[in-house]
Amino acid sequence: MVRHLLKISDFSEEECEKVINKSIEIKENPKKFSSTLEGETLLMLFEKPSLRTRISFETGMQQLGGHAIFYSIKDSPLGKKENISDTAKVASRFVNIIAARVFKRQDIWDLAKFADVPVINMLDDFAHPCQILGDFQTIKEKKKSLENMKLSYFGDAYNNVTYDLMRMCAIFGWRMDIACPNAPEYSPEQAVLDEVSGLSKDTGADVKVVHDALKAASESDVIYTDSWMSYGIPQEQEEERKRAFMPFQVTYSIMEAAKPEAIFMNCLPAMREYEQTAEVIDGPQSIVFDQAENRLHIQKAIMLFLRDKF
Ligand code: CP
Ligand code: NVA
Repeated sequence: MVRHLLKISDFSEEECEKVINKSIEIKENPKKFSSTLEGETLLMLFEKPSLRTRISFETGMQQLGGHAIFYSIKDSPLGKKENISDTAKVASRFVNIIAARVFKRQDIWDLAKFADVPVINMLDDFAHPCQILGDFQTIKEKKKSLENMKLSYFGDAYNNVTYDLMRMCAIFGWRMDIACPNAPEYSPEQAVLDEVSGLSKDTGADVKVVHDALKAASESDVIYTDSWMSYGIPQEQEEERKRAFMPFQVTYSIMEAAKPEAIFMNCLPAMREYEQTAEVIDGPQSIVFDQAENRLHIQKAIMLFLRDKF
């Protein structure tokens, strides 16, 4: 059966660990993997902008001996000139993996439904699994373990990255506080809360929404935030969003309220003095560039896993 990675809970805890460990191995010895996808092609469909995802997938595929095609669907959206099912079936005749960054989750679900090759979600409005796997690799490298952690998330919680962080914390049995404004447009969707509560039953995780940023930071090993202006959010909402999220900005006081050895993470792109102060993101607890680098290694591991190479 063809496997896809559309959200992080498509993988079990064991599979996540397997992929993370492979990524660490690839990072240590990239040459050993230089022909593991020789002759294979990755198609990357982009409806939204990207720096990290595009460059790391393209570089990663080349470093595995394969080839990556960048295809912008910005001006020719999926499902407009032909059915998504036709796009998926045709692309499957040419390439070995399809990756897509789209606005609507249904589009990537449809691609996966009709593709005969693995589909990887490079971010939609519901998930960002490659980011979260890379993030957990980074946490493992920094903390030497993935056992029994508390991660706190600050800011926009009606958000792809937040959703996959919630799923991943649930899968790994962690504590997670999501500190966000008390308003539905900035809070996780009920479907995600329900999924996460189902996942947590098996692992004993405690993932909850709170509205007090300092309390959320207390006892945290990882402080995490994401953009207040995700791709596609209209410019005219910026001032209103800044007002709503400012109480959840990651400041030095938030870092002080966490464990002394806590790390600061942001998937990037980041805006200094928005979701975090410059002092925090450029400070000694910030690991954002190690976090960004791991996108390269983890995506190589994801592609090898989905192509049944380990
Ligand atoms: N973190 C991330 O996915 O960055 P890009 O939007 O630059 O790809
Ligand atoms: N939530 C952000 C993540 C960017 C990697 C966005 O969707 O723009």
